[in-house]
Amino acid sequence: MDVKERIVAELTAARDRSFGLTVETLEAPELTAQVSPLMSPLVWDLAHIGNYEEQWLLRAAAGAAAVRPDIDDIYDAFEHPRAERPSLPLLSPAESRAYVTTVRDRVLDSLEKVPLVGALAGDGFVYHMVIQHEHQHDETMLATHQLRKGAPALLDPPDPGSGAGGTAPAEVLVPGGPFLMGTSDDPWAYDNERPGHMVDVPSFHIDTTPVGNAAYAAFIEAGGYRDPRWWDPKGWEWRSRTGKEAPAFWYREGGQWMRRRFGHVEPVPMDEPVQHVCWYEADAYARWVGRRLPTEAEWEKAASWDPVAGRKRRLPWGDSSEAGAHANVGQRRHRPSPLGSHAEGASAYGVRQLIGDVWEWTSTDFHGYPGFRSFPYKEYSEVFFGGEYKVLKGGSWATHPLSARPTFRNWDFPIRRQIFAGFRCARDA
Ligand code: AVJ
Ligand code: FE
Repeated sequence: MDVKERIVAELTAARDRSFGLTVETLEAPELTAQVSPLMSPLVWDLAHIGNYEEQWLLRAAAGAAAVRPDIDDIYDAFEHPRAERPSLPLLSPAESRAYVTTVRDRVLDSLEKVPLVGALAGDGFVYHMVIQHEHQHDETMLATHQLRKGAPALLDPPDPGSGAGGTAPAEVLVPGGPFLMGTSDDPWAYDNERPGHMVDVPSFHIDTTPVGNAAYAAFIEAGGYRDPRWWDPKGWEWRSRTGKEAPAFWYREGGQWMRRRFGHVEPVPMDEPVQHVCWYEADAYARWVGRRLPTEAEWEKAASWDPVAGRKRRLPWGDSSEAGAHANVGQRRHRPSPLGSHAEGASAYGVRQLIGDVWEWTSTDFHGYPGFRSFPYKEYSEVFFGGEYKVLKGGSWATHPLSARPTFRNWDFPIRRQIFAGFRCARDA
């Protein structure tokens, strides 16, 4: 497949996914409702996806006429915070579907005439940006589905098998030395992953799997949520203010931990990675076990450096683009795989489940790399740089394989729990 054929196939697959999470699954009242002030109405996400595509692929890349310049403001994420979006004059679900389809038809018509050269379209960059944008919003829409109350709307997919295989040591040593962090040549990479640069990382130990529900429940049982010793002062403030005593969507019934997952109520599976914990909870757990969160550089080195070849791998297990075969990504299951799964997806150091399952909180604040240049717009990354956000790595079960790569950087506030995030621990060697 050449670059343009790939673009067409990926645009089409992304749209099937977006419709499956919205107009094909829920009735209009649920699409326009807001389930949480943290989330947009689903119908906002859908038309925003189309408006972003209109701006970048039609107006910018193809130099084509605008379709609906009158709605740019409504779907500009910076003009209107999420809490305010339900009160905007949004397109209806049917209008949104028609709008995104019109935009898409024109994009596909124009694609033949757009040469994939220059800063924006070279190697397909701006198309890759728009495809990943749609998939990122699809993951956000899944978080909205998870917050939604009521009977299940999404079909729980059958378990495709998790490639569980053999046991691994609990942790491995990653010997000190330089590695290549980020990338300068991946045509799917965002500005914040660039430029690739060498970072010298001192020796450390890192867990071979994320922290599981059983271990996390032991922290709760031991009174971890009631002991300020384990908590960052701001985390303790968060805990005291909110009264939280367990991950989001957990509750106790007859001495057992239960959870709500996309409308299903089920016992918390003790062998799964914990998810829906905020950074402060991850940090407190790590201190309780006498460990700490990995830095972003430690995480990425453990995930992508091949110490024998002395080079970076595109994915933990090698350079193949098939994340789907080695990791739980792309919404094939609506949950993380059991701990120790996907042995074939281990990194050179023997670390598992780095890609997929749960986003992993790191101890690192979101900043630009040395030599960072915002491209093609400041609002993707640069406006979020600073001490307010923590970096998450690796993608979750809901992340599309096109974005599930070791260099990808996600970020969120340290109090957020609605994303599909967990963590693993590390320690100094
Ligand atoms: C990278 C997931 C933090 O959802 O705010 C979507 C992705 N950027 N539209 C977000 C994004 C613009 C972004 N995250
Ligand atoms: Fe967006």
